[in-house]
Amino acid sequence: MTGSTTALSPSRRGLHVITWGCQMNVYDSARMSDVLRPLGYQSVDAPEAADMIILNTCHIRDKAAEKVFSELGRLRKIKEARKEEGAQTIIAVAGCVAQAEGQEILTRAPYVDIVLGPQTYHRLPEMVARAARAGGAVIDTDFPAEQKFDFLPDAAAPQTPGNYTAFLTIQEGCDKFCSFCVVPYTRGAESSRSVASVLAEARRMAESGVKEISLLGQNVNAYHGEGPDGTVWGLAQLANALATIPGLSRLRYTTSHPRDMDDALINAHRDLPALMPFLHLPVQSGSDRILRAMNRGHTADEYRDIVRRLRDVRPDLALSSDFIVGHPGETDEDFEATMQLVRDVTFAQAYSFKYSPRPGTPAAGAPLQVPEDVKDARLQALQALLRQQQDAFNAALVGQTIPVLFTGEGRKPGQIAGRSPWLQPVHVSGPRHLIGQELPVRITERLTNSLGGTLVEETVYA
Ligand code: 5AD
Ligand code: SF4
Repeated sequence: MTGSTTALSPSRRGLHVITWGCQMNVYDSARMSDVLRPLGYQSVDAPEAADMIILNTCHIRDKAAEKVFSELGRLRKIKEARKEEGAQTIIAVAGCVAQAEGQEILTRAPYVDIVLGPQTYHRLPEMVARAARAGGAVIDTDFPAEQKFDFLPDAAAPQTPGNYTAFLTIQEGCDKFCSFCVVPYTRGAESSRSVASVLAEARRMAESGVKEISLLGQNVNAYHGEGPDGTVWGLAQLANALATIPGLSRLRYTTSHPRDMDDALINAHRDLPALMPFLHLPVQSGSDRILRAMNRGHTADEYRDIVRRLRDVRPDLALSSDFIVGHPGETDEDFEATMQLVRDVTFAQAYSFKYSPRPGTPAAGAPLQVPEDVKDARLQALQALLRQQQDAFNAALVGQTIPVLFTGEGRKPGQIAGRSPWLQPVHVSGPRHLIGQELPVRITERLTNSLGGTLVEETVYA
């Protein structure tokens, strides 16, 4: 069934995956490619060369569904053009929009063959077979009793040599039900992978040369996996075990909830040099009234206190966060409390959004929706302050010597590029053979979103 437009051998089929949204979607896209590989699917860059196109969607903020339908319109044209050449194209919609709007997609875009929610990727080969046979649409957005992690094959471990950083999903779903958020409805309840399977995947990654692993989960610090000793392990215990894997020198985790920043995890930041001093800890608002309305389960001072404790044990810890302005009921005073929290905490980096109502969530139907122009003005003010803090944080590194993990070539010839402990991209002049090593770099300049520096010496960090 390989189309004449593909350059693949006849037994091979082209797969083109379009990924929107969070890092979990990036990971899921890689795993969907993994489960389809035994069926002969190989990645192709152009959708025109693909026998199957997967659109992995994100529902978290504005106009998600409309964006999906407009992209599907484009894919439909490709499918029709290929059909004229006698080639079949399976179109699958995956991810959170698929979960939330499955039926709507099949009604409005009947040329879509497969709709699958994030919990059913392990059933993808079967769905593909059914879609190819029947030509009819297949929808699977259940939250099955079996765990998808138990059914997915091992991640195709040695991703191409030369990958020194990797994502590893350890936890999925959320049952915190923040007033504004669709995740509990699209990703389902919290579930964690077993410690054994996480460690096995991490070991394979390390053996293939990965030095830095980012553990992923919607609520990653709520991790509660079954331990090899039969007890339930939290993230701190898992991080301690991961830190013993030879070759793994850097660990990160994202996204965390302040409610789950327990003492053990805070102490892990004291005890494990591999835990990078950069933490994404969304706070959303600095107003206790709004935090309550958001159902966040903590106050602004409790957040300040967590940050203080983290910095006590790891003084170089920098923070990143998410903010929402214009949640229903947010007054000027509430917004000022958010600005005050930002001034008090100081963030190295942040994402900020205007509240957008998600159908089916409690806040969407709440009274006192905030007018769009007010949201705009608040977002501008908040982003200006956050930008100032980010610039100051980057500027403060100029003149310092910091460890950089080199991951690839730089933009200019003769340059190599890597990342700092705080995830800033760093460029230096240096030979390619240093790629894959972690080396001290003296930072000499701050660019808009990256840093420039010079290699101090060619000694590898321990
Ligand atoms: N409106 C605006 N921002 C939202 N987020 C989640 N849901 C919404 C919404 N309805 C933001 C939150 C979250 C980040 C991933 O997206 O800040 O932490
Ligand atoms: Fe959404 Fe809140 Fe769960 Fe985060 S903690 S995924 S914002 S419901």
